[in-house]
Amino acid sequence: MIESDGDAASGPEVVYDAAVLRRQVQRLRRYLDRAYPDSHVFYALKACYLAPVVRRLVDLGCGLEIMSSGERAVAAALGVEGERIVWNGPALDVTTLERIVDRGEWVNVDSRSVFDRLVHIARARGRTVEAGVRLNLSGEGKLGVAPDEIGACLDEPSVSIVGVHFHHGAAGHDVDDWVDGRLRMLDVAMRWEREAGVTLRYVDLGGGLQARIELGEQLDPIIERLWDLRSVPRLFVEPGAFLVGPAATATTRVVTIKTVGGRRWAITDLGASFLVPLDRARFEVESARQNEPGSVSVAGPFCYEADVIARDRSLDIQEGDRLTIHDCGAYTASMMSGFGAVPPRLRWRSVRGVEPIGAADPARHWMAAQGYEPDCSGP
Ligand SMILES: Cc1ncc(COP(=O)(O)O)c(C=O)c1O
Repeated sequence: MIESDGDAASGPEVVYDAAVLRRQVQRLRRYLDRAYPDSHVFYALKACYLAPVVRRLVDLGCGLEIMSSGERAVAAALGVEGERIVWNGPALDVTTLERIVDRGEWVNVDSRSVFDRLVHIARARGRTVEAGVRLNLSGEGKLGVAPDEIGACLDEPSVSIVGVHFHHGAAGHDVDDWVDGRLRMLDVAMRWEREAGVTLRYVDLGGGLQARIELGEQLDPIIERLWDLRSVPRLFVEPGAFLVGPAATATTRVVTIKTVGGRRWAITDLGASFLVPLDRARFEVESARQNEPGSVSVAGPFCYEADVIARDRSLDIQEGDRLTIHDCGAYTASMMSGFGAVPPRLRWRSVRGVEPIGAADPARHWMAAQGYEPDCSGP
């Protein structure tokens, strides 16, 4: 029987809270319902794949934003299909695109090459196919297509461009930049309406909604500008971190306190294999002890320097304490690696109480995934 080292009951644990998911969806829906007549929320599935989390978001009325056939399989498992799915991603091959077309899902093309694939598919089926366009407005990075490059295709009879999409600047990034990008997307849309007779069925703002500010601060300027379009397209949003970020809270034990070059470090048993150090992840750490706060950096147990949870915080922390890490539901479980071989236990809290998500003993599951026999003994 495989057992992980240490006391399983006191090991790191992450709890996902159904009530917080509901609160975040309701917050967004309340804003959108007041602000615009026809708006649709597509949860960006890549932010967290955990079944109870996604099932609850779907039950609360969210569609899904996806990028791969694996993500499509998750959508299918939850009964999400057709117009409740929007696809993005730079690597949509012909087979995937054929399925998208035949199933009536929304798709934002990311390149001229993908647009041409759609033309082929539409001609083979003898009908017009509708698509949106993911715009690249900076000439930088790999995502999206330049407006002028796709503008040359707007008179193609077999593929009708009915949507514009822009996603750049994830949650945690500058709000003014976020707004500026979406306004520039709408400028392109208005030009296409005027000059090429395009009729938009949707405007897709992508993700990047900020959970810590009023939604109006971010969205009001965009909604106002939407009324300058000729049509009244549907409004799509693709929030990931906004919905699932605040829903998860981790607890971790401080194993070692040490000082290196004058900086005090608290080394915990939960690190970057779960708390992925993306620049958008600014983890908020809380200590129950509040007597004498001092400057401390909090880091995980792994032997690489990027394994840092929080730098130079003012906290009172001693060895053996348990720390709480707030707002860690986005791009953590979905990007979690087996590095270090100590996966945290994941839990789901709902009105039914707290129950395990997935493998009850993740260390055993991890061993099996690496090809070890289920009955080999632990350390
Ligand atoms: C196309 C697209 N839409 C939405 C999102 C969700 O972004 P966020 O989690 O910042 O809301 C992402 C995330 O990278 C994305 O790539």
